[in-house]
Amino acid sequence: MSSTQPAQTTPRRYQLFIDGQFVDAESGKTFKSPNPATGETFAEVAEADKADVDKAVAAARKAFEGKWSKMSARDRGRLLYKLSQLIEEHAGELATLETMDNGKPIKESTYIDLPGVVENFEYFAGWSTKIEGETIPVPGQMFNYTLREPVGVCGQIIPWNFPLLMAAWKLAPALAAGNTVVLKPAEQTPVTAVELGKLIAEAGFPEGVVNIIPGFGETAGAALASHPGIDKIAFTGSTEIGKVIAKAAAENLTKVSLELGGKAPNVIFADADLDQAVNGAMMGIFFNQGQVCCAGSRLFVEAKVKDEFLARFKEKADKIKVGDPMDKATLMGPQVSMEQLNKIKSYVAIAREEGATVFSGGASPELEGAFQNGYFFQPTIFSEVDNTMRVAQEEIFGPVTSVITFDNDDDLLRQANETMYGLSAGIWTRDITRAHRFAKAVKAGVVWINTYNMFNAASPFGGYKQSGYGREMGKHALELYTQVKSVWVDLSGKPIGWFGK
Ligand code: NAI
Ligand code: MG
Repeated sequence: MSSTQPAQTTPRRYQLFIDGQFVDAESGKTFKSPNPATGETFAEVAEADKADVDKAVAAARKAFEGKWSKMSARDRGRLLYKLSQLIEEHAGELATLETMDNGKPIKESTYIDLPGVVENFEYFAGWSTKIEGETIPVPGQMFNYTLREPVGVCGQIIPWNFPLLMAAWKLAPALAAGNTVVLKPAEQTPVTAVELGKLIAEAGFPEGVVNIIPGFGETAGAALASHPGIDKIAFTGSTEIGKVIAKAAAENLTKVSLELGGKAPNVIFADADLDQAVNGAMMGIFFNQGQVCCAGSRLFVEAKVKDEFLARFKEKADKIKVGDPMDKATLMGPQVSMEQLNKIKSYVAIAREEGATVFSGGASPELEGAFQNGYFFQPTIFSEVDNTMRVAQEEIFGPVTSVITFDNDDDLLRQANETMYGLSAGIWTRDITRAHRFAKAVKAGVVWINTYNMFNAASPFGGYKQSGYGREMGKHALELYTQVKSVWVDLSGKPIGWFGK
């Protein structure tokens, strides 16, 4: 295999971005971020800890009380728009860095992640001037109105599966609403967040409005989530850590929003267009190496089309090009880390123990050269899965789907909802009544009918049940980043009579 991976000699170096400056960690510590395609060190990054979190929160507070709150909504919007343009100008370079740090195919970072990042900053730039209060028709000689104000200093902790896009989902609405931010990227993928810091500085945001502090979860993340100086914490990641965050936040009654794991049902009825459904099943589970919170990882197939569907699905899955993520033709790169790869492998063993069949894939592919040390895994299909098995209930977060059969709508709906998660669901059918009935009855925050993994900055995204609370994107995201103040004004000019005239 010929490599298109740029030869790298020395790792790229990154610092923390605090109060408008690029600085080393107080401890002087750094950590290494490997390129998942080769295992080689891609970047060496300053490692934030509690002391840096304190500094960043103080800077964000100063900015919130100072310049940022005095800036007009229009100027805030213009800064966000300027940032979206700068990102667009640097999109090629950022997509390459994202692929080198995360492993996702360059085709994805170029055509999905980066355009999504630009779209989110652009969309929320427009909201800055449209955040309004209300007048309330209260009785008597009274005037009552509301002010919709920013929450304050926001701590934002994001995962590694869409590093820059998750930063955009979090930062754009927070800034549009007038908050300041301390953002902690995932330790696996810190690079593009710090690159974004450079563009934030270039766009002209006042210092301290955005602070970016790469570091580990148990140290920097925990210090941020439990910090008494923050007003809100927003988290995307595992349900397990979501609970840790919620508990830490409870200590200070810090506001919390959580976007957590999923085990989405992607449902194929016999009356579906099977070509569409096969492609939809692939998009549902193999996109981004299956490292997607809303991945269609429980593939429910109506029993009477199971054999035909599985044959077609396997044929296409086996043809997916897995390998060098910098190659434009690659459709699946490596998993993000050795830890994630090992987790996926452990589930293959679990599937076999539980009596499921490894119908396709199930191992790492044979690759050549430097890629032998990468964290690659084949597209994998488990069949003969029962919805109660661990492989049907636990988030694997890899290119691994569990095929479960069902006999009718009621049987399907019961099984689809038998999960602690409720992030998303998909359905493939030509029967519109059935599709909308399912959309209404399934307990999930997002439903796709005859499509999968569709997103837009204007459309809300978030979970039911243990997939979290709060909605990102769309006008709903602004609710997470604003609070309402009710103001009462007497219009009568008379004293309150209650205690006598
Ligand atoms: P994680 O939930 O531990 O990490 C996500 C973010 O939280 C990272 O920035 C991490 O540094 C931070 N974090 C970790 N522990 C923390 C703590 N105690 N306090 C504050 N912040 C903390 O996810 P991890 O370990 O990377 O992956 C484990 C599993 O989580 C995956 O296999 C997958 O199932 C799930 N996951 C789900 C994601 C989603 O989008 N819903 C994204 C990433 C992982
Ligand atoms: Mg973790």
